[in-house]
This record gives sequence, C-alpha cells and structure tokens, in this order.
Amino acid sequence: MVSRVKLSFVPGLEVEFVDRVRGIEQVLEWSEKSTWHPIVVFGPEGCGKTAWLKQATEILKETNFDVVYINPMYKEFTAGTDINEVVSKLSEVVADATGYAPIKLADLAAYLVIQLLKRWKKKRIAFLVDDVFQAIGLDKAEMYTKMLLNIIEYPPEQYEKIVIIAATSEGFSRWRIGRHRWAWIMPMWNMPKKSFEELYEKIPGPKPSFEEVWRLTGGNPEVLKTLYINKWNIEQVTNVIIRSKRIHREFTSKWRSWLERAVEDPDALWWGENVPEELVNELIERNLIIYDLYPRDPVFWIDEPPPEKDPELGIGKYVAWQTPLHREAVKKALEEYR
Ligand SMILES: Nc1ncnc2c1ncn2[C@@H]1O[C@H](COP(=O)(O)OP(=O)(O)O)[C@@H](O)[C@H]1O
Ligand SMILES: [Mg+2]
Repeated sequence: MVSRVKLSFVPGLEVEFVDRVRGIEQVLEWSEKSTWHPIVVFGPEGCGKTAWLKQATEILKETNFDVVYINPMYKEFTAGTDINEVVSKLSEVVADATGYAPIKLADLAAYLVIQLLKRWKKKRIAFLVDDVFQAIGLDKAEMYTKMLLNIIEYPPEQYEKIVIIAATSEGFSRWRIGRHRWAWIMPMWNMPKKSFEELYEKIPGPKPSFEEVWRLTGGNPEVLKTLYINKWNIEQVTNVIIRSKRIHREFTSKWRSWLERAVEDPDALWWGENVPEELVNELIERNLIIYDLYPRDPVFWIDEPPPEKDPELGIGKYVAWQTPLHREAVKKALEEYR
C-alpha cells in the first residue's frame, strides 16, 4: 500500500490511517479510469469519510495527480501540486477572517482546478471536496454538483485522468442531488470489523473488550473516540448524544410509540403503516438514522457495505441507526422522560 496519512485521533494521539482495503482499491481504480460523474459520498457522521478522503489525497498525489482537497466548513485545504499560485490563493481566502465564507473557498477551489487544466496544462487532476453541502447550504448543493459535472464533461483542455469526489453527512443532499443525473451517489458505512479492530488496538490504556466496543459503536470511529475521551463511561456518552441531538421530552412524548418501535427494529419506520414523514425527516436531519439504505451489493458502496440486517447493531434492511449508541440514546430518553 501507498504511504498512510497521519490523522489526529485526539489531541496528543496521532493514528495512521487504518486500511479500508476496498475503499482504497476503489480510489486506485478511479485513478486509472477517471470518475465519469462526480462521486457524492454520504454516510453516518463520524464513519470515516474525511479520513478516507485524506488518504485518497495521498494516493492520488503518489499516482501523479495534481490534487486539491478542501473542507470549506473547517477552512481546511491541501494542495498537492507544484503550482504555488494554487496554494497561495487558497491560503489567502482561508486567512481572510473577516470576509471568509465557505462558498468562497468552494468556488475558488473549483476555479483553480479548472485553471490547473487550462493555464497550467495539468493532465491528471483530482478534486476532493469534504463536508461541502453543509458548508455551502443545501440550496446551492445542486448547482455546485452540476458545476463539478461540467468540469468532467466540458473541460477547458483535454485531461488524461480526472477524479472528483464530494463527501457529506448531510442527510438530505442525496435526494436533492439524486433528482438529477449529475452525480454518482455512493453510501459509505461505518468501518468493517477487521479495520475497526485494528484501530481499537491502537488506542492506549485499559479499555473494554473489543467485542463490547464493537457492540456499542458498530464500527464508528467517532463514537470510539468519544468513548475514549470520556474514559469509556457509556452513560456519559449516551447523555452527550441525547443533548447534542436534542432528544428532549417534547420530542419523545410526541413520537413515543413510533420511537419505541424503531428502537426495537428501525425498519418499523419503513414498513409501518402511516409512518409519519415528519418524524423520519427529523431523525434524518439530526443524523440519528440513515433512511432508504442501498442494496448491499458492494458495487453501490464505498468500502464494505453493512450487513443485510443486524438487529444487535440497529441495522435494518432499509433503515439503520447511525450507531448502536445513537439508538441507545433514544432508548434512554424514552425511559427518562416517561
Ligand atoms: N481509517 C481510519 N484510520 C484511522 N482513523 C480513522 C479512520 N477513519 C476515521 N478515523 C478517525 O475517526 C474519527 C472520525 O472520522 P472522520 O473521518 O472525521 O469521519 P466523518 O468525516 O465521516 O465524519 C477521526 O478522528 C478520524 O481521524
Ligand atoms: Mg468529515
């Protein structure tokens, strides 16, 4: 494998990218064939999209691509190119504390990618955009995607290879973008068990058994991190989720019977009669569930798909809790506010 990026897991603990074998093979494949549409990747919060994009940046650099990675939300970028102007222009926008708007960075980066083709005659170009739709707003998501497609379809100069990937945890963008054929939408799930175990092993100090951590996190590295920071105090972490997802009394009493069913089996939100759309939307918007899961054929997925169904982890055929602890938080709130 190519060199692995170092990721800051928590302050003071750097972790090398843990291989997601298939996810990396897919990037290599695109580096050979190009992406015919922008690839839009969506998946649970904290499932590892950013880490994967950063590793992809590295791989593409090593296969002679000029790479621009941006995260407009966090004002972050990496420019893997020998054109200094790209770096300096991006730095300028990011450093402009007063006038900074995420859309500026997103637009500028796209403009620079076009310039890489046009002015600087680069032939292998990759553009990786992280958390883009949260940053620029759902209303601009469609046009931005169309613009990405235009770079692929109507480049100002011929390229040899092009790879364009955008990632989002924003639950609705996939439908907004899916209305058009402007992107190839691919879900990504939490980490496969084997990769996740490798990551678990890298975490120092006393910790619960791997099987227990797997049952709590379902392979979500962000939840793993939160558990570690909170010294494996599950109660505390569940409370953090309850607070951050605003699962309060009003919410639980309004939807109690549906939530009770969904906690037992998330597919109740799919098969049930008269499932309230308002509730489904709220759960998607709060990043508690993933709705309308794709068939588990690996061709549809980045890296490995989740299992067909895993009641223990809260994964149904069509609906899944983002992680078992998200489900646990709802369960706990239902009990507390009884
Ligand atoms: N393959 C991986 N190897 C090592 N650390 C990872 C890996 N995937 C994710 N992480 C770590 O887990 C945390 C959450 O992942 P992140 O990529 O930020 O998720 P997302 O972008 O999907 O919200 C981060 O601290 C990240 O560095
Ligand atoms: Mg991210």
